[in-house]
Amino acid sequence: MPNTNDTLPPPPFKIKMVEPIKLTTLMDRKKHLKAAGYNIFNIPAEEVYIDLLTDSGTSAMSDNQWSGLMLGDESYAQCRNYFHLESVVKEITGFEYVIPTHQGRSAENLVCFALNLDETKVAISNQFFDTTRANIESIGAKAHDLVVQEAFNTSVYHDFKGNMDIHALEEYLNQNSNVAVIILTVTNNTGGGQPVSLENIKSVSQIARKYKIPFFLDAARFAENAYFIKLREKGYSDYTPIQIAQKMFSYVDGCMMSAKKDGLVNIGGFIALNNANLYNRIKERMVITEGFPTYGGLAGRDLETMARGLNEVLSEDYLQYRYQQLQYLGNKLEKANIPILLPVGGHSVNLDARKFLPHIPQSEFPGWALTIALYEMFGIRCVELGSVMFAYQNEDEKWVYPELELVRLAIPRRVYSREHLDYICQSIIELYKSREKIKGLRMTYSPDFLRHFTARFEPITE
Ligand SMILES: Cc1ncc(COP(=O)(O)O)c(C=O)c1O
Repeated sequence: MPNTNDTLPPPPFKIKMVEPIKLTTLMDRKKHLKAAGYNIFNIPAEEVYIDLLTDSGTSAMSDNQWSGLMLGDESYAQCRNYFHLESVVKEITGFEYVIPTHQGRSAENLVCFALNLDETKVAISNQFFDTTRANIESIGAKAHDLVVQEAFNTSVYHDFKGNMDIHALEEYLNQNSNVAVIILTVTNNTGGGQPVSLENIKSVSQIARKYKIPFFLDAARFAENAYFIKLREKGYSDYTPIQIAQKMFSYVDGCMMSAKKDGLVNIGGFIALNNANLYNRIKERMVITEGFPTYGGLAGRDLETMARGLNEVLSEDYLQYRYQQLQYLGNKLEKANIPILLPVGGHSVNLDARKFLPHIPQSEFPGWALTIALYEMFGIRCVELGSVMFAYQNEDEKWVYPELELVRLAIPRRVYSREHLDYICQSIIELYKSREKIKGLRMTYSPDFLRHFTARFEPITE
């Protein structure tokens, strides 16, 4: 059922510390855009008023987490904070081995190494996040997405648009014997933070077991996914978020987690799994690249805040407020007829740039153009999930553009108030009224991988 919540109940926390932000002038923002090569990632953060670039590493930590920082045990090996983290992760996931990493992509890199991915292998997901895809493709393996078709239609309602297409998965596995791993991304960030149902996780698990393929969760937003299951999947309304999370993990062989999302920390991640061989391979590798296996590139204090954050994120009060904040923003935009991805996801509201700017072809990057216009006019920074991030050249050197051209307004956790959300809404509504004035862009520099981070552009003026 679509949510029609118009009100936002008060947050289950109060403010103890503030960080000033300021709205710069239009002239300043134009200047910064030019200097940044019209790439929003190059804009100095202090020149941004509302920063919706990402929900990753941008959470406000609690007093409980800040006090945990002072209890960091900075011993090189076997620090006490590792054991705290290990016990929290074991309780949530049920896995035997817990390996901290400095963030999600290093966990991905280590798992790809341990699984021996190479040019002959394929990895399958509902939809890979860009760093996971890049980790797989940069070693020559193939990353193949099999999300349900509903995910590509922004206006159709579906409770679990992040689900894997089970029939397509079986068909693929029947025809290909080189699949080395299946990874479900929960929630599906690339598709707009859409959840995956427990039923779907279970079905993928049964198939993975039948074909003897390791099955992992990319668990960056596992708590938000668990809350969607509680709200939308039959039979789970009386479960607590941790009970649902435990069920999610019970169907998989392991997980990679960027704790910068549902770990409520500014840096951190981990791998958790049951297979002793994989664990040993990861340990051997990580001492070369990441650090000793009980600290994984982090300080003891970071491990402590991560352990505490993982407990806090499963609070039902917190998850309910988080969900309602996203619904509030989405509903206001929907009521104003702004084209957004429906239903609203767990961490972001996503503008449908092809509908917002139908006069700009994908070869001129409508999603990117929308991010530039939102910053230029209103000081709001958000990110394109569209042609810059996902278009690629096929064997005939023709550009293949993604079906979805989204602009993601990622909401940092426990950071912005209702007044901020109202400012975001008003700005987007105003921009929509004069949308035909927005022009496309030409790319002037493009790197080989993850081009959105460093590509440069110029506006098309003619
Ligand atoms: C689903 C998902 N997986 C992995 C990552 C990578 O995590 P990190 O940024 O900590 O390397 C992200 C980051 O946004 C993500 O959203």
